[in-house]
Amino acid sequence: MSQWPGLPCPLQLPAGDYAWCACGETRTAPFCDGHERCQPVRFTVRPRRNVETHWLCGCRRTRTAPFCDGSHNKKGR
Ligand code: FES
Repeated sequence: MSQWPGLPCPLQLPAGDYAWCACGETRTAPFCDGHERCQPVRFTVRPRRNVETHWLCGCRRTRTAPFCDGSHNKKGR
């Protein structure tokens, strides 16, 4: 099993479709690498005039996958 950093991943993503790894066994974190047991969270980044930073969850405890909701700071979750 790969080790995720456990912290949010700030990424400037071009418009397109993405699959966030939900199982934690990917080698291309935070994105799914097609692991057979993974059920990734799929999301789309729409074209924007300005580039936005997307804070993807790196700890997999978020309740708003694929985005960080601050759960990495909470103990016991
Ligand atoms: S990195 Fe997972 S909730 Fe913030």
